[in-house]
Formats: sequence, C-alpha cells, structure tokens
Amino acid sequence: MSGNGSGDGRTLAPFGRRSLEVVDVHASGGYRIFSLRDAEGPLPRAGQFYMLAAGNRWAERDERPFLPRAFSVADAVADDDGLRLDFLVDDVGPGTARLAGLERGEPVWVNGPLGRPFSAPGDLAPGAAGGILVGGGIGVAPLAILRRQLAERGVATRILLGFRDALHSGGLDDLFACCEVRLASEDGHAGHKGYVTDLLAVLLEGDDAGSSAVYACGPPAMLEAVRTMCAESGVPCELAMESPMACGFGACFGCAVPLAEGGYMRLCVDGPVVGGGEIETALVAGAGHR
Ligand code: FES
Repeated sequence: MSGNGSGDGRTLAPFGRRSLEVVDVHASGGYRIFSLRDAEGPLPRAGQFYMLAAGNRWAERDERPFLPRAFSVADAVADDDGLRLDFLVDDVGPGTARLAGLERGEPVWVNGPLGRPFSAPGDLAPGAAGGILVGGGIGVAPLAILRRQLAERGVATRILLGFRDALHSGGLDDLFACCEVRLASEDGHAGHKGYVTDLLAVLLEGDDAGSSAVYACGPPAMLEAVRTMCAESGVPCELAMESPMACGFGACFGCAVPLAEGGYMRLCVDGPVVGGGEIETALVAGAGHR
C-alpha cells in the first residue's frame, strides 16, 4: 500500500484541505454513493475517515456555515488519474442532505485521510488468520474497503450486514457486489429477520471462531453488543466508532469516549478504530452524521 505512513501504520493526510471534484453519484438502495477524484492524496487505509464539506451551498438552509462532516471512506481505487474515493451517505440532517444531493462536477472540500485504521487479524491475536466483518446501516461503508484491503493481503473474510429496513439500507450491489454476504434485517425484507448480531452469535459458537478477528461498524447499540459478545468469546475485535466531530484533528474534544482503564480518548486522533477492550462502552451519545 502506498501513501504517507506514520509509526502506527496510519496514512497521513496532506496538510490543509483540498478541493476535489465529484466524478460520480448514484443511488444505492436507500443510500447514495458519491465518488471524488483525488489526484494527489495518498491511498487511505481501511477505517480512516475524511472531513467533507460541499464546496458550494454548504449553509443554504439557515445561512450559517455547517461544520465539515466526518465520513469513513467506503472504497479507494487507484487508476491513471489518481484515486477514486467512494463515500456512502444517508440523508439524515442538513449536512448529510447536502452531501447526498451532490452532483457530478461539483467541488468538495476534503481533509484526509485521518485517524487510526483497522489492524490485520494477526496483529490483534497471534492465532487470528481471518476476519469476520459485521456492519450495520451506514456503518457497512468502511467494511467494504477493509474487505478489499484484507483480500489483497490474502486474508479471508466472512461478511455479516444488517439493516433496519429497505429504506435504511444500501451499498450491497455496489460495494459488496463481489462477495458472499449474510444479511439480516429488522423488518425481514432481506435475509435473517432480526439483528446482525444474531448472525455473529452463530459464527462465534463455531469451531473456527478462535482463528478469527471481528471488525465492526454500525450504530452504538450494535457495536456494544459486538464488543460484549467478543469479550465473552475471547475473540479479538476492533470497532470503527462514530461520534460528533467538530474539528477532526484533536482540538475540540467533541469526540471523547471513556477508556476502560479511566480517562478518555479522542476518536478523531486515537480512533476512529478502537480495540474492543480499550473502551468502557461503545454507547456514545450523539453518534452519527447530521
Ligand atoms: Fe475535535 Fe476530535 S473532533 S477533538
């Protein structure tokens, strides 16, 4: 993997923000995917995020500027023109509505890639050789690039994705078209009727659970369930967490979460990927994009 590295394996962002062009946008289930052309930025690691703000009309509703929004990158593919960065967005508030409404050719202000990425299974536990990827809702996004980057290193993955209903689902036919996915939905419209953690419970009871590491991203209640289940099963896990991020570079403490050993970490610089045992709880107030 190319790019500017740091001592802990994260790719470092170029200094300052840069303006990138939207090169594709389309519906994906109930969500939208927009793609940016990044001619000069480094290849991100799975789990890293970007601070995004539309270049135009980023404050149309109330005439006050919005803060940039933190988005995990869903995929990054290099070609002759640089990188294509894909982002999955659900319209749940003014900022996300503007990003969901981006059109091809528009500029977007970008700072990234930022934050701590996912680790390889063998770095989490000596016997871990494969990954179990558990995604919920819009949280499926970073698992798509994680699957790609693990596959490039010869690491096998099993993918479990859950959605509330058809309206709050997406990315399957675009980001996971390549692979077998086990689905759960709360309303039963696709796959197992229930929670994605029901599917995880079955895998954690299997004989090969001990050779796996679990990677999860989704709503706080799902992450906390995954964290607890993995702790009880003795399976290492990493969680990609969301919290309100005002600055994205460690200055505002808006993204602090409590550590298991006391004190706090700032998700934007010490995360967003955290080890399940590092934090006191994944139930972070105010998580999500608005
Ligand atoms: Fe400001 Fe993390 S978003 S410290």
